Amino acid sequence: MKITLTKNKKVKPDFSKLGFGKYFTDHMLTMTYSDGKWNEPEIRPYEPVPMDPCTNVLHYGQGIFEGMKAYKTPEGKITMFRAYDNLRRLNKSADRLCMPNVDIELVMDGLKQLLVIDQDWIPTAPGTALYIRPFMIANDKALGVHAAHNYIFFIILSPVGSYYAHGLQPTKILVEEEMVRAPLGGTGECKCMGNYAASLFAGEMANKKGYDQVLWLDGKEHKYVEEVGAMNIFFVIDGVVITPALVGSILHGVTRRSVIEVLQKDGYKVEERRISTDEIVKAHKEGRLNEVFGSGTAAVISPVGVLNFRGEDLIINNNEMGPISRHAYDRITSIQNGTAADEFGWVVHVN
Ligand code: COI
Repeated sequence: MKITLTKNKKVKPDFSKLGFGKYFTDHMLTMTYSDGKWNEPEIRPYEPVPMDPCTNVLHYGQGIFEGMKAYKTPEGKITMFRAYDNLRRLNKSADRLCMPNVDIELVMDGLKQLLVIDQDWIPTAPGTALYIRPFMIANDKALGVHAAHNYIFFIILSPVGSYYAHGLQPTKILVEEEMVRAPLGGTGECKCMGNYAASLFAGEMANKKGYDQVLWLDGKEHKYVEEVGAMNIFFVIDGVVITPALVGSILHGVTRRSVIEVLQKDGYKVEERRISTDEIVKAHKEGRLNEVFGSGTAAVISPVGVLNFRGEDLIINNNEMGPISRHAYDRITSIQNGTAADEFGWVVHVN
């Protein structure tokens, strides 16, 4: 692999005020695809990428991405959390968008080298990590609508704090009953750029009303819960943890899967099934809706304190993080940051 180190290292930001996705490290990994094959990956200084205005990703959005995190353990070793799962999901997204698969071992090797080079950018305070953003874009210079023949794969790195400006304070979520994120048969279960573009309008409307994100419902009956803008969603009713089943329009969240595995191992009852807004509102009215929380690489475990349904704010657990959300958060983050044993074999060691 070709490695070109920067001659102009950036001044690092204040790691106590990172926010999410605002700062980027000194280097990035790139790999181009042409003539039916991937060319050798390259690590080079992080910099803008020149692009012809007719490049087809700019017009038709043939692009996919992933999100994972790297950590530094108390012993100073670099680790990643379930990174193979994310790269496998990237290839699934690639299949759905007619894009070429990457060689997972080759990418993993390049990513590890990139992390070692930029390791001073890994923040270590609780609630922080180095966010890893692999993404792939179509790179044909042509306006016809067709699957491209040329692609670029990138990995960029960003030191991050919590995804929501208010940290672990419970989020306010608005249930969206009109617009939908993804119909069955669409691209909802893959991580493609268009899914996020399509979600912006409802998200902006929710923000204007004072809510952080929207809760999406199914595309057919607008009745069954799917996911939130940047996370999968869990409900605790009568002590049972319920999350929507992966019916085809919901992202296969790696953190979602981790929450299910941790909670099941620790003796909680977890159900993956359809759950309707009627069931949730009824449980709330009867005082049986104990907790609601979201899960995601960026969001980690985020408690939901308010769920707005048809203009009414349902207050969840007194607008406080509940015990099961806290348990899932503590279990997963302690495995991630190396303060607890990796009993599930989730940690990928970098050095
Ligand atoms: C993630 O959790 O990594 C995501 O990609 C969600 C969001 C930042 C788009």
